[in-house]
Amino acid sequence: MDTWVETVLIILLIIVLLILFIKIYVIATMGRCTSTRQLNGKTVLITGANSGIGKETAIDLAGRGARIVLGCRNLKSAEKTKDEIIAQTGNDNIVIYPLDFESLESVRNFSKLIHENENRLDILINNAGAGGLGNRKTEDGLHVGIQVNHFGPFLLTNLLLDLLKESAPSRIVTVASFMHVFARLDPNDLNKENNDLINYNNSKLCNILMSNELAEKLSGTNVISNSLHPGAVRTELYKNVRWYMWPIIKTQNVLFFKNSKQGAQTTIHCAVCEKVDGVTGKYYSDCKPKWTSSSAKNKELSAKVWNESVKLVKLQPNEIHY
Ligand SMILES: *[C@@H]1O[C@H](CO)[C@@H](O)[C@H](O)[C@H]1NC(C)=O
Ligand SMILES: *[C@@H]1O[C@H](CO)[C@@H](O)[C@H](O)[C@H]1NC(C)=O
Ligand SMILES: *[C@@H]1O[C@H](CO)[C@@H](O)[C@H](O)[C@H]1NC(C)=O
Repeated sequence: MDTWVETVLIILLIIVLLILFIKIYVIATMGRCTSTRQLNGKTVLITGANSGIGKETAIDLAGRGARIVLGCRNLKSAEKTKDEIIAQTGNDNIVIYPLDFESLESVRNFSKLIHENENRLDILINNAGAGGLGNRKTEDGLHVGIQVNHFGPFLLTNLLLDLLKESAPSRIVTVASFMHVFARLDPNDLNKENNDLINYNNSKLCNILMSNELAEKLSGTNVISNSLHPGAVRTELYKNVRWYMWPIIKTQNVLFFKNSKQGAQTTIHCAVCEKVDGVTGKYYSDCKPKWTSSSAKNKELSAKVWNESVKLVKLQPNEIHY
């Protein structure tokens, strides 16, 4: 055999072994929620549960007997999700209310519906999020990327704090991301003109800061607040990505990424596990508390971002429950 053929074969072998090694590492370090806790009589609200890890979270928690409230933008798709949850779990205690984070009025309407129709809220899961939304401004004058990922969930969480406190012990779970380490946040101008990627990373830092600040503000109320990194998960989050990126993403998906069910484990852990009882202000990954960037730990920054967010979503005195 020619030596160059041998060289190519050896290089290929090394690549295959490397991929195999990474795949084994990914599987070996993957966290799993081992709690068997049941949720009969409890109400769980999940945003963005139409697909991906949100849907898997809903299926798991429905299987534990909870009443599941889905906040979704696409109601047709939500109906399909509801049918799927019922088919897989036999639990038909599932309701859908319209929720569109691109409009703060929609968030307020949604909260009104919840208060009118639900008598308790035990677990709030801030799962909805998206990348690649572009840079346009919403009717609220905020950048769509940061509104959908941060301002919307920030407003929703605030509006639901009264119900969560009444139902305590209760939990707030916010799906953030490792990407928060790349944030370049200007706390004096949260709505700054930025590109998509910076907005996304910034919004993920805001998720953790919000969660930590909630933990402070709710201390002593028996409402706990934790955030998490779901891991690198294959979801339709990528549907907003440019088409020429698809082959790369598809390859990564198959080789290195968790499927949605695996990706939902840390959310489920934070929502139900006995080990998280009384634990608040932490950031989880693979079902274990993990380190965050120094910005994410910065208490002055979280207070500042909280205050600025209150202003930007125009939180009214009668909407403040902390
Ligand atoms: C909010 O509710 C009001 C009153 O029901 C309705 O007129 C309005 O269209 C709703 N807005 C959104 C964004 O859903
Ligand atoms: C934000 O995260 C993405 C990965 O999703 C990264 O490629 C990008 O460089 C980050 N943005 C900034 C401004 O660091
Ligand atoms: C945030 O607002 C609260 C209440 O208005 C105030 O007491 C606090 O000093 C502010 N914190 C920062 C860092 O702006």
